[in-house]
Amino acid sequence: MTHPRLTPLAASLPATVPFVGPEAQERARGQAFIARLGANESAFGPSPRAIAAMQTAAGEVWMYGDPESHDLRRALAAHHRTGIDNIMVGEGIDGLLGLLVRLYIGAGDGAVTSDGAYPTFNYHVAGFGGVLHKVPYAGDHEDPAALVTKAHETGAKLVYIANPDNPMGSWHQGPVIAQMAADLPTGCLLLLDEAYIDLAPDGTAPEIPADTPNVIRLRTFSKGHGMAGARVGYAIGAADVIAGFNKVRNHFGMCRISQAGALAALQDSAWMDHVRAAVAQSRAEIGRIASAHGLTALPSATNFVTIDCGRDGAFARAVLSGLVADGVFVRMPFVAPQDRCIRVSCGTPDQIAAFARSLPIALGQAKMG
Ligand SMILES: Cc1ncc(COP(=O)(O)O)c(C=O)c1O
Repeated sequence: MTHPRLTPLAASLPATVPFVGPEAQERARGQAFIARLGANESAFGPSPRAIAAMQTAAGEVWMYGDPESHDLRRALAAHHRTGIDNIMVGEGIDGLLGLLVRLYIGAGDGAVTSDGAYPTFNYHVAGFGGVLHKVPYAGDHEDPAALVTKAHETGAKLVYIANPDNPMGSWHQGPVIAQMAADLPTGCLLLLDEAYIDLAPDGTAPEIPADTPNVIRLRTFSKGHGMAGARVGYAIGAADVIAGFNKVRNHFGMCRISQAGALAALQDSAWMDHVRAAVAQSRAEIGRIASAHGLTALPSATNFVTIDCGRDGAFARAVLSGLVADGVFVRMPFVAPQDRCIRVSCGTPDQIAAFARSLPIALGQAKMG
């Protein structure tokens, strides 16, 4: 019997995806988590109008979704004051990142990111045989100038930055990002991941016209809009860059229910205001809990708070294990020195109360070693 033959590239890759989901962790523990505060989902949920639209669409799910996501793209274009040709809808930012890497990175092509940044970009670069070049964070921020320098040094075709950043929650003012785009070498495309932009202070989003040829912005309904499970993201960019997606995208990739939900969510700005207020309150509460136990909450422009546990990565990992063992799902940065921190998503008062109860227990155990 012959075995199926992977490509040499696929054969060389580990069969692991970037994250172990909370469901897998629950199966391993044999118990559900009490508080799900590790994936930066929005515990405040989607807009009631989005829920109603998805309930209606559920009965129509025998039909494929519109392969062009026309109504949603038209609404997004109006929202961002761009042309419809400047918008592509896809299966979350993660899916769009995969398509972009497929479009631009072949075997041996260079891509630049920050060491310890959101890992899905790296996963896709590895999957298409690209070469990743990494620069360190500077003071818990991604370092735009270093990313640009590395792009010049390596001739990279793609540079990735998330603003605001995950896992640190830090952010740059819009003009810093606009300058970064202006300083990139010719032929290098900036992937600007704005997953958390709905929750960031005014002035965080750079004023870059959609037709700028070397920038593609990525947005999502997973965070502020509270629809992570629906898998709706979108890209904003120059029409010819956006048209590139049509070379490789999954024709019927968008779920009809998700398209309807995203369209309704976009029109409910009052719900987004409500979520922003709830997130601000939750960030402040997580900060209070951290400082009550002698820890430092880092400033955040996102729906999570990164907490400096004040020692090394081994200590933060021990705190994290204690929280997880106590039923509180949280995550932490992978790379030193950011791995001195744990990362706690904003949540409902009940979830945050569970974190407040477990933190001193986890800290006590970690201190005992
Ligand atoms: C920086 C960043 N980009 C993208 C994503 C994933 O977005 P989506 O759900 O749209 O794939 C996340 C989720 O945690 C994120 O933190």
